[in-house]
Amino acid sequence: MPITKQTIAIIGAGGNMGSAIAKSIAGDNYRLLLFDRAPEQLGTLTEEIQQVQPEADLESMNCPHESSWEADIIILAVPHKAEKEIADKIRDVATQKIVISIANPVDGDFSKLTTAPDTSAAEELQQWLPHSKVVKAFNTTFAADFGQPLIDGKQADAFIAGDDENALEAVTELVETAGFNPIIAGDLSVSGTLERMQLLLMQLTIRNNDEWLAGWKILRN
Ligand SMILES: NC(=O)c1ccc[n+]([C@@H]2O[C@H](COP(=O)([O-])OP(=O)(O)OC[C@H]3O[C@@H](n4cnc5c(N)ncnc54)[C@H](OP(=O)(O)O)[C@@H]3O)[C@@H](O)[C@H]2O)c1
Repeated sequence: MPITKQTIAIIGAGGNMGSAIAKSIAGDNYRLLLFDRAPEQLGTLTEEIQQVQPEADLESMNCPHESSWEADIIILAVPHKAEKEIADKIRDVATQKIVISIANPVDGDFSKLTTAPDTSAAEELQQWLPHSKVVKAFNTTFAADFGQPLIDGKQADAFIAGDDENALEAVTELVETAGFNPIIAGDLSVSGTLERMQLLLMQLTIRNNDEWLAGWKILRN
């Protein structure tokens, strides 16, 4: 449990992942600042959250810069191809803040990643935001999983990678609040592995008609 209430900006809050994350962490622990290019989507999301969590601390925002300025943690719930543009808009207000990279940079037919083999979406984001603490998280959990993080009776694992210990601790708490079992996989260079893992899970999910309800679990005694 965080000692003080943290403020989380979700950029792309009206999308599948942005809304799933917002619903899963809304509550006593966090103040949520929601931004979407299509603000009408936020009205519906806010209503849905407040029906379940009347005390949820939510605010709809007008721009990514203002959202990030007020936030302790910034979640970019947008496609990787949009992240450079958003990074350019928030760079000055994201300094020393945690920025969560949830992106899986897959091509249109889920056949390959669009990033070069020696990097990852998270490492590119870190280059675009050199003074922020980029953490990879929530890329190995499908949006559909958030409604039921118990899959086949087991709490789904959610992998986290990053270079800053305090940032990893804060994101671990966030992932736990969202209902997943957090596993710190390593430093930010592990992000490429996490993104390739999820490409494989997407391909298997499509082949098995799992309707995006699938996840990862490390089994151990
Ligand atoms: N879906 C999943 O299960 C899943 C799982 C793990 C990770 N991810 C990752 O999560 C991210 C979002 O995926 P999603 O499935 O939630 O996609 P989505 O439903 O299409 O939502 C994407 C959001 O990003 C916004 N957006 C796109 N381009 C933008 C730009 N240039 N500036 C500002 N906002 C922009 C969209 O706004 P508009 O509505 O205005 O276009 C929308 O709100 C992706 O990086 C994806 O790889 C997805």
